[in-house]
Amino acid sequence: MFSNWVIITKRPYFNPTMKQDSEKRSILVTSALPYANAPLHLGHILEHTQTDIWVRFQRMYGNNCIYVCADDAHGTPIMLKAEELDISPEELIDEIYQDHKATFEGYRISHDNFHTTHSEENKILSERIYNSLNEKSLIDKKIINQLYDTKKEMFLADRYVKGSCPNCGAQEQYGDNCEKCSATYNAIDLIDPVSVISGTTPIISESEHIFFKLSQLKDQITTWLDESHIQNPVRNKLNEWLEGDLKDWDISRDNPYFGFLIPGYEDKYFYVWLDAPIGYLASHLNYLSKNNDESKFEDFWEPDSQNEIFHFIGKDIMYFHALFFPMILLNANLKSPSGVFVHGFLTLNGEKMSKSRGNFISAKNYLNTLDPDYLRYFMGSKLGTGVDDIDLNLEDFKQKVNSDLVNKYANIASRTAKFINNHFKDTLSTELDTPELVEEFVEASIKISESYENLEFSKALKEIMSLADKANQYVDSKEPWILIKKEGNEEQVQSICTTAINLFRILTIMLSPVIPGFTQVAKDFLNEQETNWHSINDPLLSKKVKKFKPIITRIDENHINNLIGN
Ligand code: MSP
Ligand code: ZN
Repeated sequence: MFSNWVIITKRPYFNPTMKQDSEKRSILVTSALPYANAPLHLGHILEHTQTDIWVRFQRMYGNNCIYVCADDAHGTPIMLKAEELDISPEELIDEIYQDHKATFEGYRISHDNFHTTHSEENKILSERIYNSLNEKSLIDKKIINQLYDTKKEMFLADRYVKGSCPNCGAQEQYGDNCEKCSATYNAIDLIDPVSVISGTTPIISESEHIFFKLSQLKDQITTWLDESHIQNPVRNKLNEWLEGDLKDWDISRDNPYFGFLIPGYEDKYFYVWLDAPIGYLASHLNYLSKNNDESKFEDFWEPDSQNEIFHFIGKDIMYFHALFFPMILLNANLKSPSGVFVHGFLTLNGEKMSKSRGNFISAKNYLNTLDPDYLRYFMGSKLGTGVDDIDLNLEDFKQKVNSDLVNKYANIASRTAKFINNHFKDTLSTELDTPELVEEFVEASIKISESYENLEFSKALKEIMSLADKANQYVDSKEPWILIKKEGNEEQVQSICTTAINLFRILTIMLSPVIPGFTQVAKDFLNEQETNWHSINDPLLSKKVKKFKPIITRIDENHINNLIGN
């Protein structure tokens, strides 16, 4: 049943009572750190929605789950972007930081901490980790040849140089591989190279670089991969890489660069991909300091600690997260990830998102048109453990949301609440009319919690919607609007509507990891602020509810037209 996935076979997680603190899992979760050089797009929102659904489920389930993220603030693109805007890199990353933070809040992403990699914590941790690797003789130095832009006075990273492919001769190819023939090569082998920055012809120049000796760690990587949670398709890709020849990893960059200086050097910086994942630890440390809990940091990151650490990332950055980063942590005597969850890319109406081609929706502008929960629901309904791309087809989006959330879920309450409000002074009955149906929903919650745990959100939501169908069929068959017309049926109508509202309540709890805003409105109506998954077991009886107000409105064509290209 869980062919693609391994969590459930590795450790027991399901504990319906979760009464004792000692039974709670302690989990640290991250989403990849967005670069601090541009506003967020809906691809970022897909990743954070996937993470946030899982995190919210874990918290509701009774586990201790901390969710941290940060901006990835270093590297050449950020340095050049700041130059272009005629501001300092610090000013640029501060501005983007505020923007990213507000956008994530707009989407109800429940980070416990959103930090930056350009922080004191990250500097200290990066140096400490580098020093440990050095002590273990895993750091090497080599002289390498690179293209150098004499006008700009800087070495050129692969994406800042273009020329003709040394293999097939195709023009206008970047310095790492050819889009025409897929050959990979070294930038110095490009024919007629040109600097993308200054337009001049670069020269070849020597420089000493610092390397992490990854090539020695093949066995350790294999063991780590065997012990952690990695989806099968991802594991296969990593195996392919491992079977090839594993190269040492260049972790230094020359001046000018925006980043942290490497200890012992005046003009060499850590490559951004060295300090970026360490930013996860730095954000965690910053979170603990804000709560006066710094002392917990060392224990948490002890290699043998019982804590779990999960990273959610896109498929383009697997190499860094499943090869480099765990090896760096293990060899710095820190806890390595318990799992890395990889998702595919978001496409829009079947095409790659692209600003220049007008096929894009900015994350901020979506929020000016629609509630984030519509999109969270749609994304959730598409997310599983696969790494295939996920398409946001706007017509499907409108249909799916209207049909599932409005016609199925919200409808249960909107057609029964009025009887409780108008005929029974807002009060639920003392007994259920059809307890076995409620029991069936409670029973189903076990499977649904397993689907959430295993990141099968699309499966969980399908199951929830089939329960919503059952609830509506139940109301259809009981016809309370006819019963109420005849005197003597009052008690029955009250308990039918109470049953329906209990079904609605269970669905509300089940849906709250995905649509926390809409379910909050539902909880306000139910007059309870229940955030515990296990409260599904306790029916709501004899209690007062509030006056019902519509929970979710339909998406119409105008909304959709407002989204695209904005
Ligand atoms: N800064 C690095 C990550 C460092 S993590 C220590 C980076 N930043 S990014 O802004 O380019 O991407 C951040 C995340 O968004 C990555 O996981 C990436 O895969 C994901 N996505 C970027 N575009 C995406 C889509 N179109 N769809 C889904 N996710 C996408 O990489
Ligand atoms: Zn080529």
